[in-house]
Amino acid sequence: LKTDALTQIENAPDAAALEALRIEFLGKQGSISGLMKTLGKMAPEERQVQGPLLNGLRSATADAIAARKEAFENEELEARLASETLDLTLPAPDVPQGSVHPVSQVMDELAEIFADLGFSVATGPEIEDDWHNFTALNMAETHPARAMHDTFYFLQDRADQTLDNAPNTRMLLRTHTSPVQIRSLVEHGAPIRIIAPGRVYRSDSDATHTPMFHQVEGLVIDRAIHLGHLKWTLETFLKAFFEREDIVLRLRPSYFPFTEPSVEVDVGWQDVDGRRVLGGDGDAPGHGWMELLGSGMVNRRVIAFAGLDPDEWQGFAFGVGVDRLAMLKYGMDDLRAFFDGDRRWLSHYGFSP
Ligand code: PHE
Repeated sequence: LKTDALTQIENAPDAAALEALRIEFLGKQGSISGLMKTLGKMAPEERQVQGPLLNGLRSATADAIAARKEAFENEELEARLASETLDLTLPAPDVPQGSVHPVSQVMDELAEIFADLGFSVATGPEIEDDWHNFTALNMAETHPARAMHDTFYFLQDRADQTLDNAPNTRMLLRTHTSPVQIRSLVEHGAPIRIIAPGRVYRSDSDATHTPMFHQVEGLVIDRAIHLGHLKWTLETFLKAFFEREDIVLRLRPSYFPFTEPSVEVDVGWQDVDGRRVLGGDGDAPGHGWMELLGSGMVNRRVIAFAGLDPDEWQGFAFGVGVDRLAMLKYGMDDLRAFFDGDRRWLSHYGFSP
């Protein structure tokens, strides 16, 4: 019986079969348990012989079952360890990553460049009132320059679709970042050195115009700021932004109601394999000038509108299109694509995974 039991245990194919054998031999109704019960009825001399034998049989069987059980458990553990192995040398799976939009990237770069020149970043509302967007910038109600802006106005009353005609308080989508000049001066006074990046809106749409676009305004007001400071600041900023030392600027007289004198700034470009690349003197053969931004000395009337004394304070301002800067830096040619959200376009210019 003993060798038979031990062979069966040894050959049990799995844990379930082993458990069945345990019940068969050692369970309450089991064969070995049955033999143990016969001990009580035996004569003492016989029990003395059979007792140790049966006990030996029972413990040998229990030991064999325990050993086999442990072997099964080990096998299972080995199998789990083998199947759950982590290969730390495998390349990590690709995790899709977004990227910063070129417009945001340029605004970040500008904030960094101007921070080095001592400018802080100011902001203002995109839903602006007439006074900050126009009047305080020396564009009175009847000023012809207002017509150049293709302004989106809010209706005074949605029901009857009438425009609010109250000068100064009617609301609009700001047409430029220049109202932030006024808000910053009113809030912080002078001296001041800020840039103001943000969205602006004009009713206009073609390959180079979108109804919403981005500008960065610059404003410096102090006691002795002059046009030379403006030129140096723009040169320094454009050299840093385009990462070229040979950026050449041309300043042309121009007109903005809020600057006097006003200066239109062109930047020289050269033909490199049929592409216009910024850099070099625009008057050289094969070169040319590209209009880049508007600027000037802040008009005395604007300084007064902001509540400061124009005999004490003076300075310069400029406004530049962020989208245009991005197009020039990254060689993009259709402004509208900036706002399509097409990842193929972004990745074509190295902005997406
Ligand atoms: N606000 C002007 C525009 O949108 C740009 C500008 C800003 C010009 C500051 C002069 C000074 O066209």
